[in-house]
Amino acid sequence: MTNNSILKLDTPALLLDLNLLEKNLDEISSIAKENNISWRPHIKTHKSLQIAKMQLERGACGITVAKLEEAEVMVAAGIVDILIAYPLSSEQKLERLRTLTNQAKITIAIDSLEQAKIVDEAFNGASPITVWIKVNSGLNRCGVEVNEVLDLATEITKLPNIHLTGIFTHAGHSYAATSLEQIKSIAKCEAQTVLDSAILCEQAGIPIKHRSIGSTPTFKYGATIDGITEIRPGNAAFYDMCQVGLGVATASNCALTVLASVASVKKDRIIFDTGSKALALDQGAHGNKSVVGFGSVIGHPEVTIERLSEEHGVATLSATSTLALTDKVQIIPNHACVVANLFDEYNVHRNSVIVDSWPVDARGKMR
Ligand SMILES: Cc1ncc(COP(=O)(O)O)c(C=O)c1O
Repeated sequence: MTNNSILKLDTPALLLDLNLLEKNLDEISSIAKENNISWRPHIKTHKSLQIAKMQLERGACGITVAKLEEAEVMVAAGIVDILIAYPLSSEQKLERLRTLTNQAKITIAIDSLEQAKIVDEAFNGASPITVWIKVNSGLNRCGVEVNEVLDLATEITKLPNIHLTGIFTHAGHSYAATSLEQIKSIAKCEAQTVLDSAILCEQAGIPIKHRSIGSTPTFKYGATIDGITEIRPGNAAFYDMCQVGLGVATASNCALTVLASVASVKKDRIIFDTGSKALALDQGAHGNKSVVGFGSVIGHPEVTIERLSEEHGVATLSATSTLALTDKVQIIPNHACVVANLFDEYNVHRNSVIVDSWPVDARGKMR
């Protein structure tokens, strides 16, 4: 074992396989290039300046964030083109947003006329802010319906301080799909929802330059649909056991793992030092039963992490295990995005040799 082997780290530790990260980013970049569309990765997955920069170096046109605070961290490091894919409306946030728009090209989501008017009012006296309408393609979270887009777009054109240039959606319901066919069909519907909305606006004389889609299960398929101009995958930088369960990736694509130690061995179970504060409680979308346990222990198919308390991961054994007290294992988490947000830094390695340490810069930035 070399002095900088991952096994020398104390646990729990967040490990990032640089070879796999580069491969995953290269693949997304190629898909965007092959289809002649933009790539605007969602950085809520990694919250890392270093990884955002790797994405930009590979041709990303800018980044997507969920939180204003994430945008502030990225702008402070010199990233200049950001979609805040969230319908901001509070006074405090709009004040900060005004400051940020002086430093970078910021676009925000609009999902109601009421919110559009609040944003318009907040930008009175400032340069107009660019906005994209968020349309609902089946996730039933934020977003207006297709048949409401034209009315909203028409009203927005009357507001002097906001400037509409795009329409976007996120097909997060693809996480509940139970077959690849279903994922493809959701991808088609996701793209069509944006295209139908854009056509309605353009027929009424409102140009919609940006037609943006993207979730990790659907982006490869949506990218090929004519008229779509942008993809925004987040999780695909890392992949995880949810994506493996969906058939979107294999365990060998998963770049992010958690290094755990065996803290205790009992007759019928093993306890790891990784509980919900290291692995998170996610088990995939409601309705999708393809995720087993709370992460996959690499090289130990006999071990299933069946329950988590905050500091303990309790695993049952389906056969005799060679694992003994103090042994270290790598666990592929079920949901990489929430796990990254639980750690201070990535221990970056190539072939299990540590080559760097990167902070999770926007960790915990949720306002
Ligand atoms: C608006 C928006 N775009 C893109 C994404 C990226 O999705 P995924 O992580 O599945 O690639 C998300 C995820 O929540 C999102 O909310």
